[in-house]
Amino acid sequence: MTESMANLAEDLSSILTRVQNVNVEEISKDASARADETKSYTSIAARNAVDLNLFEHISSAPTPISSEELSALTNAESLLISRILRLLASVRFVNEAGEDRWTANETTRAMASPPIAAGHWITKYKVPLEPNDGFVQYGLQTKLNIFDYMYSIPPLLQDFNLCMGNAHGERESWHYCPVVLVDVGGGKGHDMQAFHSAFQEKISKEQGTLVLEDLPQVLDAIPNDNLPSSIVKMPHDFFTEQPVKGARGYLVHHILHDWPEKYCHQILAHLRKAMIPDYSKLLIYELILPNTGAVEMQARYDLVMMTFSGGMERSRSQWIKLLEDAGFCNIGFMST
Ligand SMILES: C[S@@+](CC[C@H](N)C(=O)[O-])C[C@H]1O[C@@H](n2cnc3c(N)ncnc32)[C@H](O)[C@@H]1O
Repeated sequence: MTESMANLAEDLSSILTRVQNVNVEEISKDASARADETKSYTSIAARNAVDLNLFEHISSAPTPISSEELSALTNAESLLISRILRLLASVRFVNEAGEDRWTANETTRAMASPPIAAGHWITKYKVPLEPNDGFVQYGLQTKLNIFDYMYSIPPLLQDFNLCMGNAHGERESWHYCPVVLVDVGGGKGHDMQAFHSAFQEKISKEQGTLVLEDLPQVLDAIPNDNLPSSIVKMPHDFFTEQPVKGARGYLVHHILHDWPEKYCHQILAHLRKAMIPDYSKLLIYELILPNTGAVEMQARYDLVMMTFSGGMERSRSQWIKLLEDAGFCNIGFMST
């Protein structure tokens, strides 16, 4: 062994000793405390932007460039470009100059440099529009949409329902609400139970009915004694006619974000037909992204929904457009 090799071996062995002395348990505790399962979406978005040459196009534009203009340059759909760039803007890979308008910063220009941008170009960049032809179907080689897929694997469905019951977090429930409520796609009934506990006296006085709707596979799995007697379980596919007409309120919580536009319109059309004008209210409980300046977590969730089911976390203006196009008016927003 030469002297330099010996020195190198010594250096390596001292590095190894240091590595071995690190408290692995502490590191993994720390890592899992910070674990964030959606983090990889940010690097996936960056990789897609490189593939599409977005950084170069934005860097060479003399004035803010819109997603529409980028779409014309790249052949990728402008909505998909906005959704990718919204996430990248939240971590300052690009600057947001307005709604769906972008400018370059130093990171954008670095990302546009040839060694980084030497990716390849894919010509059919599109937002998935069919819930049975998206990322999950590609990955799992199935034709089932995400819900039918979960219904086919009972332990997976059980975990999903458990997880959805917690998605509301620790926030207080139901500051205001109509008395008679239909929870459309209500899962195992956690929202209805929260509503019932908050308003049971009022409900019984006015003899209201609470209706919990979901597909039979989900409702059948709820033990009967899990729900108060005033909550009626009603199997219903929300792509078909709404059986409860003229209720005071219809709640859709974490439903519309699961579905592409065309399917949201079908769900909304059935609800609208069942509603009485100036009396019934549609209550949508979802994430509302700001039109500009979404934080990273919000923008990542949007891409999570795109992967999960071809769905989407919508911005305030995207919500307004969806609802107005579906014929709703008097749209209001409130935060929880
Ligand atoms: C994301 S979960 C939301 C559950 C609940 N609303 C919540 O916020 O916790 C979506 C729900 O939609 C239900 N669902 C999916 N497709 C449906 C359909 N065609 N008709 C009725 N419910 C459906 C699922 O079974 C699931 O309970």
